[in-house]
Amino acid sequence: MSDSTYDLIVIGAGPGGYVAAIRAAQLGMRTACVEKEASLGGTCLNWGCIPSKALLDSSELFYEAKHSFAKHGIKAQVELDLPAMMSRKDQVVQGLTRGVAGLFRKNKIDHIRGTARIAKPGVVEVTSGSGTATLAAKHILIATGSAAIELPNLPFDGKQIIHSDQAIGLPEVPKRMLIIGAGAIGLEMGSVWSRLGADVLIVEFLDRIAPLMDREMTTLLHKSLEKQGLKFKLGTAAQGAKVEGGRVKVQLKTGDQTSEEECDVVLVATGRRPYTESLGVKEIGVEIDRRGFVIVDKHYATTVPGVYAIGDVIGGAMLAHKAEEEGVAVVELLAGQAGHVNYQAVPNVIYTHPELAGVGMTEDQAREGGREINIGKFPFAANGRAKAMDVNEGQVKIIADAKTDRLLGMHILGPRASDIIAEGAIAIEFGASAEDLARCVHAHPSLPEAIKEAAMAVGKRAIHF
Ligand code: NAI
Repeated sequence: MSDSTYDLIVIGAGPGGYVAAIRAAQLGMRTACVEKEASLGGTCLNWGCIPSKALLDSSELFYEAKHSFAKHGIKAQVELDLPAMMSRKDQVVQGLTRGVAGLFRKNKIDHIRGTARIAKPGVVEVTSGSGTATLAAKHILIATGSAAIELPNLPFDGKQIIHSDQAIGLPEVPKRMLIIGAGAIGLEMGSVWSRLGADVLIVEFLDRIAPLMDREMTTLLHKSLEKQGLKFKLGTAAQGAKVEGGRVKVQLKTGDQTSEEECDVVLVATGRRPYTESLGVKEIGVEIDRRGFVIVDKHYATTVPGVYAIGDVIGGAMLAHKAEEEGVAVVELLAGQAGHVNYQAVPNVIYTHPELAGVGMTEDQAREGGREINIGKFPFAANGRAKAMDVNEGQVKIIADAKTDRLLGMHILGPRASDIIAEGAIAIEFGASAEDLARCVHAHPSLPEAIKEAAMAVGKRAIHF
């Protein structure tokens, strides 16, 4: 590794970091990206979004083959080959992470393998098996992401008390799995292992699942997941666990009552914390908040000149696409352009069956502060395409300002919600009204017709419901 001077050194090659590096190279900056792992792409590509979606798709096919094929007139004998399922998932991951390496080569970005430490503004030390190299740069961008939170009395052992990185690679289907936390990870991984045959119990501290999403929509999702066989204990905190005789005993507390549940595997999915280990941020004076998030201004500048941060490490929604947008914005700002992220238009998706997606305000958020709103809803049971797909549950819910009709939020529980929520994100970004959406021609039959109808329902004129 030789000493060099760069316009930008990005630390971390997750979706925030690698996208920032590519945008910087496009804008003519001499760019390096330092990554400690052999494989590029960070949590999203290696252990998060991508492998979990690969398993969600595979497990859904397995579940459908067992439970729904007959309805479609297809007779099949179905058997699970878990190693093959895992190896397909690994191939998907490998294809995409190699793709990032290819994009780095194409854009002439120096990919530097090792662990970075910011020695002082403008200087990054990278330690790897081959020693320590010192790199110089005009700007440094921290994009080091986040790591799973470990609960005090539930230390990870990687086998029976696990976090999400391990939940995507279990060697066999556990008979009984207990999941702590009914957020995105708990619900998605719970779905995967339940579809593959595990008896899954999800324990959640709050009185509802998926607390960041619209409450009405999560109530519907909760019912649907229970119908699929997932079990829930709400208002319950996990307090500790011990492994005894090959089983895990988990101590729970519901109100004043304590209880114990036994299982084979416990997945702790109680959130993620910013990852700044061995980065040297405190030492150089970068301010972090009490939860460890790097503090930045609206241009993603930390309190140390020349050092910037984006993605999970600065807090807000811990989403790959939010990090990507911030990566583009910060680099464009450095290049004197007008980089900007509209946080109101960041969609959030939970890839359960049915999928739950939302963008903009939830109903509770919209009502807070006394805002008057109109709500339009349309059930997928009344949508022709959904009917043809044998979908009888879920709905689109649109929240509009009562005075201006401006779209404030869109929430979708249903097939391909992750894809069709894009219509809501675009509408919010363009400042559309519910009427604008209602007057757009939608292909028939198609799932987004439910969005058009929900927009029409805001003005109490849905046609098919
Ligand atoms: P989360 O913050 O979404 O949910 C954690 C849940 O655990 C909360 O509902 C919380 O009330 C509960 N909890 C905390 N301590 C508890 C205890 N001791 N006992 C019982 N319940 C407890 O965190 P999660 O699911 O771990 O995900 C981490 C991050 O990754 C989130 O920001 C999430 O948005 C993101 N992510 C996004 C995905 C997506 O976009 N589809 C998929 C997976 C993760």
